[in-house]
Amino acid sequence: MSVKVRLGTRNDIDALVDVECSDVETWYHFSSKGRGDPAVYDELSPWERTMHGGPWMDAAALAQYWDDMKRLGITPLVAEFNGKVVGHLDIIFSDELPLGRFLYLDVLTVHKAYRRRGVARALIKEAEGLARRRKVGFMLVEPQEYEGPSGLLYRSCGFEKAFDTYHLEASINRPEVPSELRLASIPKLLRPPLKTHTMVCGWYNISAKMWYYSVNSNLEPSHTLLHHRLALAVLTDISTHFFHLEQELFNRSTGTLCLWTPAPPNQKALRDVFQTVKAVASWLGIETLKTRTIERYVATLKKAGFIIKSRGEPYLTKNIG
Ligand SMILES: CC(C)(COP(=O)(O)OP(=O)(O)OC[C@H]1O[C@@H](n2cnc3c(N)ncnc32)[C@H](O)[C@@H]1OP(=O)(O)O)[C@@H](O)C(=O)NCCC(=O)NCCS
Repeated sequence: MSVKVRLGTRNDIDALVDVECSDVETWYHFSSKGRGDPAVYDELSPWERTMHGGPWMDAAALAQYWDDMKRLGITPLVAEFNGKVVGHLDIIFSDELPLGRFLYLDVLTVHKAYRRRGVARALIKEAEGLARRRKVGFMLVEPQEYEGPSGLLYRSCGFEKAFDTYHLEASINRPEVPSELRLASIPKLLRPPLKTHTMVCGWYNISAKMWYYSVNSNLEPSHTLLHHRLALAVLTDISTHFFHLEQELFNRSTGTLCLWTPAPPNQKALRDVFQTVKAVASWLGIETLKTRTIERYVATLKKAGFIIKSRGEPYLTKNIG
């Protein structure tokens, strides 16, 4: 019995969908109102399938995501067990503030029927080899559950807790855009400002992927769902900030925020920038703004009126070299 890790190709798409779907016990219909009745896989539209865990749940959606992977900076690794693809790990090299140069371990899944046979460990070992060859300082991951299988897996591979994450919320009471600030659109092809700006909130992924996924998304506008998502720049007389706002799919009075500000964050400028973001959110009908951040930016967000709702899973790192 042996595990072989190699680069994934488009020919692996069906097998990868099989891997990811192995974790879903019950499939459901979805509509703009939310989750509906239980269903069988074949009855569901591609979009309904992706609601169970993203583009990996449907071959057509994953093929579309594959088109985008290069732009998102993703290298897909797949693991074969006795010649059958049974697991995968997406990795992203990034160099961004405030972290520096690192290898991020993004999506990792092993087929339910092939777990505890060393498949994930082999994928992580291959990623570590690539990180060493590229001479990055460390690997970074956010396990699904620190105390669950993923956290135990990464800790057994030498990863240690690096920093905590927090979910925060702010309520919005129809503020106005401060008169000295200006809103502007963001040029579609603007590269992520990873070395000049820091992502003070929006830590649903690393800064590079969040930028390409939200601000510089090349997703076709979806007609399936009626929810707003937009990215804008906020200009003060000396600085430019960028944000992305997205209404929640099934609760349109709530939106999520991702914000990039010049590093190091300037509290005074940010006060007005957050007010501007809240004004735009209120134009979209958003009453509650949600976001996620890492411990170093919690105080900044609290000053902008956010309160901590819960603690998220921590990020883990492993130093290389
Ligand atoms: C987490 C996951 C990727 C592990 O894959 P795997 O191939 O079974 O892991 P491995 O066999 O390589 O395990 C290596 C070590 O990790 C730890 N480990 C892995 N799964 C574990 C579990 N369910 N409970 C306790 N420890 C676990 C053990 O130390 C294990 O070594 P051992 O089997 O010699 O005791 C797999 O369970 C999975 O796909 N889960 C669902 C998706 C997920 O959580 N992905 C991770 C997102 S960050």
